[in-house]
Amino acid sequence: MIRDLRTDHHNILRVLRLMKRSLSNFDGKLDSEKFERVRECIKYLCEYPDRVHHPREDMMFEMLLNREPKVEDQVGNLHQEHIDLFIRSRQLLDSLESAESGKSDTIDALHQQAHEYSNMQISHMRHEELAVFPLIEHKLTLNDWKAIIAQAPSDKDPVFSEKPLKKGSSGYLLLKKYFYSERIS
Ligand SMILES: [Fe+2]
Ligand SMILES: [Fe+2]
Repeated sequence: MIRDLRTDHHNILRVLRLMKRSLSNFDGKLDSEKFERVRECIKYLCEYPDRVHHPREDMMFEMLLNREPKVEDQVGNLHQEHIDLFIRSRQLLDSLESAESGKSDTIDALHQQAHEYSNMQISHMRHEELAVFPLIEHKLTLNDWKAIIAQAPSDKDPVFSEKPLKKGSSGYLLLKKYFYSERIS
């Protein structure tokens, strides 16, 4: 499961990079495909981490703290950060809708929020990978893992799990086209 979570982090980073690159020259006049691609990036960031990735992690953090309460400081506020990241991702989606108007203050707000969200997400994932995942790998037992796997959400990543893409797959078509264009058949 830790390997899957690291893969998720890698994919979240790819989506963050694409969002930032797509917004880098955004002045309210993005062509519609680019704009829709940014929308898909933010929708992905609202959906998959909150519905699957973060709940899996929260279960692991809880299990770790049950086993080893003294590592509480090292785990820190990761659970609260999951909530904050979700709230911020929804705000980002709202800001994108507002920026469609092309007004400069809404565009500035979108840039600022995208920048802050991205930095927060990156430092959150770095903390998990460097400080907390190694503790989890070290401390959790086979039975702990069985209990987590039995309850954790098992949904697949809606963008990165389908390889190669098939005709007729629904949702996130622009992101799939961007990341796997050569594989669409
Ligand atoms: Fe997390
Ligand atoms: Fe994570």
